[in-house]
Amino acid sequence: MTTDTSLAIIGGTGLTRLPGLEITHREVVHTPYGDPSGPVTHGVLHGREVMFLARHGYGHTIPPHRVNYRANIWALKHLKVGRVLAVAAVGAIHEALTPGSLAFPDQIIDYTWSRKHTFFEDDLAHVTHVDLTHPYDEELRRRMMAAAEAGQIPYQGAGTYGATQGPRLETAAEIRRLRRDGCDMVGMTGMPEAALAREAGLRYAACAVSVNWAAGLQGDEVTMEEIEGNLSVGMERVKTLLGALIPAL
Ligand code: HPA
Repeated sequence: MTTDTSLAIIGGTGLTRLPGLEITHREVVHTPYGDPSGPVTHGVLHGREVMFLARHGYGHTIPPHRVNYRANIWALKHLKVGRVLAVAAVGAIHEALTPGSLAFPDQIIDYTWSRKHTFFEDDLAHVTHVDLTHPYDEELRRRMMAAAEAGQIPYQGAGTYGATQGPRLETAAEIRRLRRDGCDMVGMTGMPEAALAREAGLRYAACAVSVNWAAGLQGDEVTMEEIEGNLSVGMERVKTLLGALIPAL
């Protein structure tokens, strides 16, 4: 039986399945907002029930701007999830975010556009504004930091995530602008996911996996080889992190 302390993991690029998850069943959820990225996988990981959803689909076929973020979050809420841990690949802007390392951002700037970004759209009894001063759940962030310490994983315990539209990567000038704005990392999926989780009353935090230096910061171009190499190092670390985090939750 699930309770509102149940944990769901949303896996991003490089995490289309959860290593070590003993799968019990998969559940197809239809939502008022259309279909989620795939069935929700139920299973046991490190002795605890967890749910898993691959943000880009299990075959990694859904690009960031086409993810049905509302359906994904609605489905998890419907399944009585309380906490959501979102794993997402990012480009590093801050020099401490060496590719392969992890970061647990504490702020977001949203540069995305024309995504379905709210549940409070139609048929409103009254206009609703959720507070998003602190977009990530502090307790979950702290627990991830403790797990990273326990697993001796290099991490940054804070940082601002700049959410861009994608699917293309940024220009060097766009990254300079993001840096001026105070962004430490850049990714394509952080919003509206975090805001929708807040609207749905889910406790949400992100584990960002640095997979490349953002455009123009090092080297001439961002290459897929670079991203893929760092992604596998980073995902090994995510696995270690979950091994320390989940039993402690
Ligand atoms: N930009 C945007 N999203 C990303 C990047 C990047 O450099 N790397 C991984 N996701």
